[in-house]
Amino acid sequence: MDVLQLQQEVGLATDSLVKRMGSDFGTMVVLGSGLSSFVNRIQEAVAVPYSAIPGFPRSTVKGHLGELVGGTIGRQRVLCLAGRFHYYEGYDTAAVTIPVRVGCALGVHTALFTNAAGGVRDDLRLGELMVIRDQLNLMQADSPLRGLPDDEFGSRFVNMYNAYDRGMAEELALVGTEHRLPVTSGVYAAMSGPQFETRAEIRMLRVLGADAVGMSTVPEVIVANHLGMRVGGISVITDLATETTSELSHEQVLDTAGKADAQLAELLTAFIDGSIA
Ligand code: HPA
Repeated sequence: MDVLQLQQEVGLATDSLVKRMGSDFGTMVVLGSGLSSFVNRIQEAVAVPYSAIPGFPRSTVKGHLGELVGGTIGRQRVLCLAGRFHYYEGYDTAAVTIPVRVGCALGVHTALFTNAAGGVRDDLRLGELMVIRDQLNLMQADSPLRGLPDDEFGSRFVNMYNAYDRGMAEELALVGTEHRLPVTSGVYAAMSGPQFETRAEIRMLRVLGADAVGMSTVPEVIVANHLGMRVGGISVITDLATETTSELSHEQVLDTAGKADAQLAELLTAFIDGSIA
């Protein structure tokens, strides 16, 4: 996707959404595969299917609602993307990250990205909520910033040293513990997918320092940093990539995500409700 097209799509989506729900959002939540119950926590909700947003890609993955919901959690204005776009669907990472740019245009300064992920670290358990401390970009070939002019969009050479805000990660872990949720923390690695990992790739991930592996989030976090947002991330551990067998399937991922979904919603809600705008 070239820069002009990117600008056009972001502009179209932004104009249409500003008319429907205003531009006073502070926080944005992106929900991964099989994770949708947070949507029900949003008050004064206005939902718009992605298909009704001009300039937006289409969600083609099972387990994604494919709608954008604006509303409030406590006193915070929240924009929620129930369903995301992936590189493996055929979109380049510039297209995948359009919603993050639109969120920024609607006022978002704090972004929370969630995903379903395979546990690579030995002690991870199914259904655990892993607060993401850092990321490994194993989709290096297609940066969402590739081809963007310098300066006009912000500096091309984005500093990713603190890609995930440390204070936010600590706060997420604290809120999780207070609510007796199964929280842990770790490094998330993104592979392009859509195939799951071979056993050799799982060993590689472990050597590289990954705690969990998935197929999303990393491009969105790059763009959120480019836009100067404060970023938090949570992986729901839906399978154990250490024990990947021929049984692993998208259905299993959705099944475990469904079981952990309510706990993720509780963590997100408590965190947002307790945070200062
Ligand atoms: N590997 C890659 N992506 C995933 C996995 C996995 O094991 N589980 C959920 N998304």
